[in-house]
Amino acid sequence: MSKISAAITAVGGYVPDYVLTNKMLEGMVDTNDEWITTRTGIKERRILKEDGKGTSYLAIKAAQNLIDKSGVNPKDIELVIVATATPDMKAASTSAYTATHIGATNAFSFDLEAACSSFLYGMSVAARYIESGKYKKVLLIGADKNSSMINYEDRATCIIFGDGAGAVLFEPNQEGFGLQDEYLRSDGSGREFLQATYGGSSYPSTPEAIKEHKHQVFQDGKTVFKNAVFNMADVAVKILDRNNLTTKDISWLVAHQANKRIIDATANRIELQEDKVMMNIEKYGNTTSATLPLLLNDYESQLKKGDNLIFAAFGGGFTWGSIYLKWAYNS
Ligand code: UT7
Repeated sequence: MSKISAAITAVGGYVPDYVLTNKMLEGMVDTNDEWITTRTGIKERRILKEDGKGTSYLAIKAAQNLIDKSGVNPKDIELVIVATATPDMKAASTSAYTATHIGATNAFSFDLEAACSSFLYGMSVAARYIESGKYKKVLLIGADKNSSMINYEDRATCIIFGDGAGAVLFEPNQEGFGLQDEYLRSDGSGREFLQATYGGSSYPSTPEAIKEHKHQVFQDGKTVFKNAVFNMADVAVKILDRNNLTTKDISWLVAHQANKRIIDATANRIELQEDKVMMNIEKYGNTTSATLPLLLNDYESQLKKGDNLIFAAFGGGFTWGSIYLKWAYNS
């Protein structure tokens, strides 16, 4: 019997209706549309405004979109992974709530947290379950309600992040399509440059911390930027070399949408032309765990069976990596 690989067989996505534009941010912090556009490529982002709705709301909507489009029976899904840096609550799994609400009542589920690399690492984990031969349907959702941890008085972060979710279904493939290779890394010395210091187990929130916005995201943008540029390009080159791929073999670069300049630098390093670089940062900003599946959802109609996709991501921790995947279907 030929080798089982883990193929993506369906995608879905969801972003909230509320649009926060650069112009609107001009009235909130000392910034301007021109600065944001030229420094990041972002024009607008989506925000989940309604009280009491968390990341699971986004995850459920994205999964339901996938179910509607693909016709998969939720009862056949065996595992639901929610990749997220903003779980609904502490001590209660966001994935369990999500799985139940989409009708995946025969599945087990867990959350996976690796900041902006959560979805990329989730692809690796989902693939191992499929490749084992024991699981036939694994649903991987990347979802983040970043607005829940952003200080809208801090121009270094509030211009970047948005809310959203995307979902993919992994199934076994024996024709050679699906996940081919991965190169995943992490380096804990990067923690100080991107974090929400209070509200976790090291420093539970205090009224003083909240007053000083220390429960919200802090970022040393320049340092994160430099590390992201170097490391995303580095892993993309490594994955190409390891698989004897040249630029002309690559159909698409699917890169984490944190800053257009970081994505351009990665594409330049592997000498990839612009029309092979998936880009939607202008519409959504950085949606953390949702950037990669939202790209797949937006570009699904352009993807062809056999296309070689190179995924790359970089995020807090630091965490980063690259994945090489052969697309398995024409839509
Ligand atoms: O998802 C993974 C994690 N995140 C990332 O990968 C993000 C990585 N970092 C970045 O994308 C960029 O560093 C930022 C977009 C956050 C900042 O861009 P930058 O080109 O690195 O700007 P900077 O921090 O070097 O600041 C340049 C100037 C400064 O002014 P002075 O000191 O030169 O007078 C800042 O104070 O721009 C100023 N500035 C702003 N001006 C208008 C910083 N933020 C803003 C702003 N609007 N929002």
